[in-house]
Amino acid sequence: MKNTALIALATLATVLVTPAQAQFRTPEAAIKYRQSVMTVQGRAFYGTIGAMASGRMPYDAKLAADNAELVVMLSKLPWIAFGPGTDKGAPTDAKPAIWTEQARFKELGDKMQGEVVKLAAAAKTGNLDQLKAAYGPARDACKACHDAFTSQ
Ligand code: HEC
Repeated sequence: MKNTALIALATLATVLVTPAQAQFRTPEAAIKYRQSVMTVQGRAFYGTIGAMASGRMPYDAKLAADNAELVVMLSKLPWIAFGPGTDKGAPTDAKPAIWTEQARFKELGDKMQGEVVKLAAAAKTGNLDQLKAAYGPARDACKACHDAFTSQ
């Protein structure tokens, strides 16, 4: 957990000092950035909240709420790194369709961001059943985009 939090803080620090319109220096930098954000998000989302929701990890209300807040923050970050020309330049699981179906990609991104806000609200209640109920739709929102737009 400690490492995850540190990586997330480092990522956030980078973002906070970078204007949203800033270009990445290279496509490779953009690809690495978005993959890093997704990796940390996956750790918090699947690895911590999902593990609690499925009983693989003991329920800890504070840890769940903290991680859900982290996911809400992280969920806003990857999108600037899908600019034109970042479909290649480093190994990537992003499918070319992202750049031809941008409206659909954005719609699925918005949907996921809405679901993780609900997840964070559920996590704050301190009730495991509420956490479980909100986790499913959020996970489906991650999966909908991965199925459509990644080669994993
Ligand atoms: C709108 C689309 C979209 C949504 C929604 C989305 N992802 Fe992703 N995700 C991607 C794309 C595209 C990649 C591949 C990025 C690349 O390789 O350049 C990816 C990759 C990943 C990876 C692998 C990272 C790596 O190291 O390559 C993880 C983990 C991940 N996502 C977690 C999540 C979680 C957790 C959620 C939901 C809370 C989520 N994603 C929601 C598009 C999405």
